Amino acid sequence: MTPRASSRTSDLPGVPHPALAGRSLLTLRNHPPDAVEAVLDLADALKARRDGWPPALAGRVIALVFERPSTRTRVSFESGIARLGGSSLALAGRDLQLGRGETVEDTAKVLSRMVDGIVLRTGPHENLVELDRHSTVPVFNGLTYEHHPCQALADAQTIRARTGKLAGVRAAFVGDGNNCCSSLMIVGALTGMEVVAACPEGYEPDAEVVAWADAAGRERGGGASVVSDPAEAVAGARAVYTDTWVSMGDEDAAGERRAAFAPYRVDDALLDRAAPDAFALHCLPAHHGEEITYEVLHGPRSAVWDQAENRMHVQSALLAHALASA
Ligand code: CP
Ligand code: NVA
Repeated sequence: MTPRASSRTSDLPGVPHPALAGRSLLTLRNHPPDAVEAVLDLADALKARRDGWPPALAGRVIALVFERPSTRTRVSFESGIARLGGSSLALAGRDLQLGRGETVEDTAKVLSRMVDGIVLRTGPHENLVELDRHSTVPVFNGLTYEHHPCQALADAQTIRARTGKLAGVRAAFVGDGNNCCSSLMIVGALTGMEVVAACPEGYEPDAEVVAWADAAGRERGGGASVVSDPAEAVAGARAVYTDTWVSMGDEDAAGERRAAFAPYRVDDALLDRAAPDAFALHCLPAHHGEEITYEVLHGPRSAVWDQAENRMHVQSALLAHALASA
């Protein structure tokens, strides 16, 4: 009999989900839709009882490796892991031997001997794939240039809380077809959302991701598409989402990007063209007066602060499903 172990998870509905136990998250593309639903359901349950989470991660140690700056990802992982009774090690890439040329393969093999899971924020997605290839513990994407699936899970939790469902809900992503846009399309495809991106020419999301998300989304009553006109994208949309015009790694092209994206600002006038009960999303950090106005970000139609908080709930749910001891 193991009463302590069972008490860690007996309180968490559906933990561990069979498709998530011991599993990495690089993108959500290969995750079954019911696993996404399980994360969102557990995230809602955790959010509802924020002051009393069971110690599902007791004895677990998770390394958080950041090769790029972070506020939300780092704090939400650290806080959630602590609330679930686990321990985290936040490691700046430059402080590791990785920053002096030790290979990803060697780093993966060593960390796997010492920790139970690894979160990585890096540049090229291939770095994450390489880490996962050589790790014997689950690896979780804390953002790459191409994907931000933990953000997308929080986006989905936020949208579901506001609309009561995801299937058939229209979400407009206005601006740069970046990592957050692609990941929103992928989570949207798995949950039946209709995700429409409005991007200037040359800044559309990866066409292969759009095609996959559209095909997968259509099976569930949703879809993914790209238009150039922000007003067209937001028409009928409940969620109006934007992100920085200059992502990490794009700094050298900041001037031309700001010029290209100027017509894509999310302001009250654009929100007025969306569904009557539309709300604004932004993964943050925001640049007031660039991609979003201060008035929208801090106004009554902003769901941004819930969205930021939900990072902690979805990631905690994900880790509980992946790493809970019993
Ligand atoms: N949204 C997000 O990932 O924020 P950070 O860069 O602060 O982690
Ligand atoms: N698209 C942004 C997201 C930051 C959380 C970036 O990659 O910098």
